[in-house]
Amino acid sequence: MESPSLLLCQGLLLTALLLACWNTPTTAQLTIELVPPMVAEGGNSVLFVHKMPLNVQAFYWYKQKDPTRSYEVARYLTPDNTTSKMPQHIGRRTVFYSGSLLIRNVTQADSGLYTLLTFNTEMESELTHVHLEVHKPVAQPTLQADKTAVTEDGSVTLTCLTEDPGFSIRWLFNHQSLYLNGRMTLFQKNSGLSIDPIRRGDAGEYQCEVSNGYSSKMSPPIQISVTSE
Ligand SMILES: *[C@@H]1O[C@H](CO)[C@@H](O)[C@H](O)[C@H]1NC(C)=O
Ligand SMILES: *[C@@H]1O[C@H](CO)[C@@H](O)[C@H](O)[C@H]1NC(C)=O
Repeated sequence: MESPSLLLCQGLLLTALLLACWNTPTTAQLTIELVPPMVAEGGNSVLFVHKMPLNVQAFYWYKQKDPTRSYEVARYLTPDNTTSKMPQHIGRRTVFYSGSLLIRNVTQADSGLYTLLTFNTEMESELTHVHLEVHKPVAQPTLQADKTAVTEDGSVTLTCLTEDPGFSIRWLFNHQSLYLNGRMTLFQKNSGLSIDPIRRGDAGEYQCEVSNGYSSKMSPPIQISVTSE
């Protein structure tokens, strides 16, 4: 149920002859916000549309790099004001009546430029782009200890090994954030933890967690036991 001009414009869009096709309204204020701003593989991303024109007649989403129409979804109002059913589900993608596009369980292949094409009732169009970048999640760190059975008043050094330099490291003790007491020292940008002298109360499970703002991973735990001399 699409008008010939819309079909023509779509055809032209696909052959990249965009500018010859339509007029652009003077008040272009539609914006698209990525929510959350950064996403890692396996997460969900919303391409959130702000200020969809009130007199929108139809809108289409395209993923520019893919010339097949598999990413094309539309809300379309026919002359008798009926609309496409919303939300529309297309695989991992859902399009809402507001225009926003949700992509679930994103992969690297979802990275790229997305374009929203809107037509208002005057057949004026507006193109808005947003670039989605799907980041690799951080790799799981490993934890090493110079020894796991320590005599009281001895010392132990734990090292968090990660392939992702520059990310933040948090230490856990018995599955809770480690409270650094005066006998504990962090070094090498928090990737090393030394306890000297160690006390019986320090015995337990240690883990490190590496995060980069959009994903985090914990190391397997290491059990440290403290024996009396
Ligand atoms: C469709 O909606 C518009 C705006 O709400 C209205 O002006 C128009 O008369 C409606 N058309 C029909 C056929 O109901
Ligand atoms: C997410 O996608 C991956 C493949 O990219 C798949 O193995 C996994 O099962 C999916 N997870 C969910 C919750 O759909």
